[in-house]
Amino acid sequence: MEIIIQPTREQVSKLGAKYVAQLIRQKPNAVLGLATGSTPLALYAELVRLHRETGLDFSQVTTFNLDEYLGLPPVHPASYHHFMWENLFQHLNVNPKRVFIPRGDLEDEEVAEYCESYEVEIQRAGGIDLQILGIGGDGHIGFNEPSSSLASRTRIKTLTERTRADNASFFNSTETVPQHVITMGIGTILEAREVLLLAFGVSKAEAVAASVEGPIASFVPASSLQLHRRARFLLDEAAASKLIRQDYYRWVYDQKPTWQNP
Ligand code: GLP
Repeated sequence: MEIIIQPTREQVSKLGAKYVAQLIRQKPNAVLGLATGSTPLALYAELVRLHRETGLDFSQVTTFNLDEYLGLPPVHPASYHHFMWENLFQHLNVNPKRVFIPRGDLEDEEVAEYCESYEVEIQRAGGIDLQILGIGGDGHIGFNEPSSSLASRTRIKTLTERTRADNASFFNSTETVPQHVITMGIGTILEAREVLLLAFGVSKAEAVAASVEGPIASFVPASSLQLHRRARFLLDEAAASKLIRQDYYRWVYDQKPTWQNP
């Protein structure tokens, strides 16, 4: 794993966007895995700026979102469909046919088959080149809550009360946050060729430390990234504050050969 610590959220987000832009310039039909939540917002804003000001071209890019709330139609203001179109897609020249977000408006009996078809679509697109992730305060990635199988695939999950409370700001109250979701599995995420996990603020520091310096455990889903060949944690100072070997990570990054930077 590569641990990159930057002074501010803005610097982390700009660096994250550079990795994405570099990939798209090298591979115009790249397949991106995308996340929701407040964490990737500044990275998405930077991608929009690069598109507008430098012509970064998304016309051949395919995207797969990690997750969606079950029971919310795509037009619901708190749905991840709405979030993605509002904050990213409507500002880019994406081809809507290449945008995949798990559906939340499924009947119970449709869920299992739909989840399998989502995995098939990812394979059909050639697999995910770069997966962007945030991290939950309990170490979850996507909506893979603690105890999710490290081999899990796209499926239905039940949210913890903590995650429902954490995400309540996007709803009227915690009670209106759905209990069930569809999420890519940890096994699905680990198959992405490259992973960028972003984390900001002291509320993420414990989860980051457990993921990077703790044992690999299904109880800390992001710790599974220790098994990934190309996983980067992009952190601001506060999110990195509970890492024991901060100085080492900073030193390694400072020594990094310049040709390896995006
Ligand atoms: C939700 C999303 C995750 C996200 C997490 C953190 O649970 N499903 O993908 O990483 O929230 O949210 P935030 O970035 O708002 O802290």
